[in-house]
Amino acid sequence: RLAERLKQERKRAGANKPILKGKTLGMVFMKPSLRTRVSFEMAMKHLGGDAFYLSPAEVGLGVRESAADVARVLGRYVDGIMARVFKHADLETMAQYSPVPVINGLSDYDHPAQILADLFTLYERWGEDFKGRQLVFVGDGYNVANGLLFGAAKVGLNVTVSTPEAYAPNKEVMGKAMEFAEESGALVRWIPEPQRALAQADVVYTDVWTSMGQEAENEMRRKAFRDYQLNAALLAHAKPDALVMHCLPAHRGEEITDEVTDGPASIVFDQAENRMHAQKAILAWLLG
Ligand code: CP
Ligand code: NVA
Repeated sequence: RLAERLKQERKRAGANKPILKGKTLGMVFMKPSLRTRVSFEMAMKHLGGDAFYLSPAEVGLGVRESAADVARVLGRYVDGIMARVFKHADLETMAQYSPVPVINGLSDYDHPAQILADLFTLYERWGEDFKGRQLVFVGDGYNVANGLLFGAAKVGLNVTVSTPEAYAPNKEVMGKAMEFAEESGALVRWIPEPQRALAQADVVYTDVWTSMGQEAENEMRRKAFRDYQLNAALLAHAKPDALVMHCLPAHRGEEITDEVTDGPASIVFDQAENRMHAQKAILAWLLG
């Protein structure tokens, strides 16, 4: 709701109120980024604050300096930290030692800033009540799939992940999603066969087969995920008005075809835009 309010405020009035005037976000990246980096930076600027980017080479989290010391030092200069890390444990360490809030900008475990933007994108189309809707994730059971399981289960959106057995979300992730689902009434499922998983899908979501840092496994993964490509034939198994989502960047021709990415069902660029509005909501809530 806060994301919606901030999005409308900017569209109607041409600018947001400077509610984060004088506040600065330090952004630490251990991997590349377009959306996360720019959406958080613009979000801070639109809200009257400031943000700066630290590249992998500059910080060397856990290499040049421990994650704990980076958080202790950076936290004395800024009002909030956003970090994109390889190991989720590094984020937890940063959160433990930082005197200011630490936002997950993607780890090997979760991508919550993305998922909030995704849920906001669905909320814009469907309204508040996700009950009875079905989101199906097809592909690699990794960070984005984990985040969708958690987020969907929390808001009462039924969620099915369809992955090869060797790439299924782990038991801890499924268990946690099921705990959230018990409270919200959502259904959480893993169905390995993609065609079967897509039956009754209101939205089909996919992500790359080879995530950042896994490049050495590219060939192996291409084979393992061959039957999981989101193409027109697979999409035909979903409901006729099903939406298509992807966090981007897409490896077009691998996990998703051009036809589907650029087709009428695709809302991938609305998702990308909504990163900025959802990131504003996170920042306003944490730092405002
Ligand atoms: N979806 C997403 O996080 O994109 P970037 O890697 O470009 O930030
Ligand atoms: N699973 C992808 C998401 C990128 C936003 C990765 O980790 O590279």
